[in-house]
Amino acid sequence: MNAQEMWQRYKKYLCTSPEIGLRLDVSRMLFSDTFLSNMEPAMLRALAAMADLERGAKANIDEDRMVGHYWLRAPALAPTDAIRRDIDSAVAVVKRFATDVHSQKTVPERSDAFYVVLVVGIGGSVLGGQFVCDALSRRDDTMMVRFIDNTDPDGIDRVLDELDESLDQTLTVVISKSGDTQETRNGMLEVAAAYRRAGLHFHRHAVAITKEKSALHERAIGEQWLATFPMWDWVGGRTSGLSAVGLLPAALQGVDIDALLNGARDCDVVTRKAGLAHNPAALLATMWHYAAGERNRRNMVVLPYRDRLLFFSRYLQQLVMESVGKKTNRRGDTAHTGITVYGNKGSTDQHSLVQQLREGPNDFFTTFIGVLGDRAEKSIPVEEDVTAGDCLHAFLYGTRDALFAEGRESITLTVEKLNEQAIGGLIALFERTVGLYAELVDVNAYHQPGVEAGKHAAAATLDLQRRVLSHLRAHRNEPQTVEEIALALGRNDSKEAVLHILDHAAANPDHGVRRIIQADAHDSGFVVG
Ligand code: PA5
Repeated sequence: MNAQEMWQRYKKYLCTSPEIGLRLDVSRMLFSDTFLSNMEPAMLRALAAMADLERGAKANIDEDRMVGHYWLRAPALAPTDAIRRDIDSAVAVVKRFATDVHSQKTVPERSDAFYVVLVVGIGGSVLGGQFVCDALSRRDDTMMVRFIDNTDPDGIDRVLDELDESLDQTLTVVISKSGDTQETRNGMLEVAAAYRRAGLHFHRHAVAITKEKSALHERAIGEQWLATFPMWDWVGGRTSGLSAVGLLPAALQGVDIDALLNGARDCDVVTRKAGLAHNPAALLATMWHYAAGERNRRNMVVLPYRDRLLFFSRYLQQLVMESVGKKTNRRGDTAHTGITVYGNKGSTDQHSLVQQLREGPNDFFTTFIGVLGDRAEKSIPVEEDVTAGDCLHAFLYGTRDALFAEGRESITLTVEKLNEQAIGGLIALFERTVGLYAELVDVNAYHQPGVEAGKHAAAATLDLQRRVLSHLRAHRNEPQTVEEIALALGRNDSKEAVLHILDHAAANPDHGVRRIIQADAHDSGFVVG
């Protein structure tokens, strides 16, 4: 296509949503002129299904539950008065709690005020908040927010070491919808132990966000934590960013959560529109379908050209892959659907993965995200008539052109500036895109059976570990090989697992396991004592 044809294509397919300051350019996706009109009926069906979902249909059929994250920013749309009241009251409680903390009405045990928020959670239940807090952090934030989102002892130490001096001024927010996620529970126990070591009572510095009657809820109530905030059955982890899960850390940091919610609600209004021309979520979902379905390009590289959007790539990776990466469709047929999402930020990626994007396998499409406003103040020129922000902008379009010249397709999303409204809008845009795409490929976007499988396998390994340790303790000072231990436990099918357990145990001081090294590594023995 020559430059004149590209310009016509750009104008023809540009989707502008001035109400939310957003432009979506799909001209560098090389779908045919008939593709969009052919997709229109399927998209109308997808939009109708989303309308049913918003009216309270049990869209998560496998878990027999409603899917209500859209109500969080428009409670009036909730299907029952009780849900409407729950949402309104949760937002009010979040705001009141943040005000009480900021005004020092709620104070820690031994200091004048809370200055730090430590969020403990994992996956969808933490990434939304992490994205929002990082994207909207400012020099004059009311509180600093940090995250523990893994059961990595070294990672936990790193965060706790940073907070060492300020633990007495730290409010810990433990987030788990189910209330029994192992990583989150471990993080909470490690943090509670750190407070204890500092001579502080954890419960006087802790709040929980969880479902009523969960193990976490019972603990928080039983131990008289400072507060509990609700999570509901009808909100999934990865779409909980605009419930208390994301709102509480953001409000404590000093983010205007009303503006965040308004941004999402305004985007929802735009993305409910019928047809593809004026609905950016519908157009995005159709492009995903074109790339993954028509072209077999199932990798989406997300390149936001703004440091503040660094977590957006990670957030989208989780939102998209946990939602649409499914073995079976809703009819029960094997489908293996999914879009692999990765990315970091531009123009940093120009110096790493862009090399392969341009010259390696053409198995992906890119989503560029640009922000028009650079900073509030004027910038210095870095060369004649050019600022650092001009360079960033030029790199986005330069990279896009360089990729397109090699037949690498892309979508470009442009927002005017990065503020609360825009961040709320981006969350809403991709939540609905995922919902619509799931309709197009007929999968349940709201469950995660694959995650459960990994959890069960890990639990089986921990069970085996307990048996191995108890066996070694019963044969104190008697070195045994992996094969001998597996045989003694009747677990000849699990020798490799026994080896991995003992390798790890011998590398740490926790269980008293030592490795007795032999010339042939496979003859090495393990011993307690
Ligand atoms: O998006 C999801 O549903 C998951 O990623 C969950 O958020 C994650 O597994 C944590 O679950 P929970 O909030 O129950 O601790």
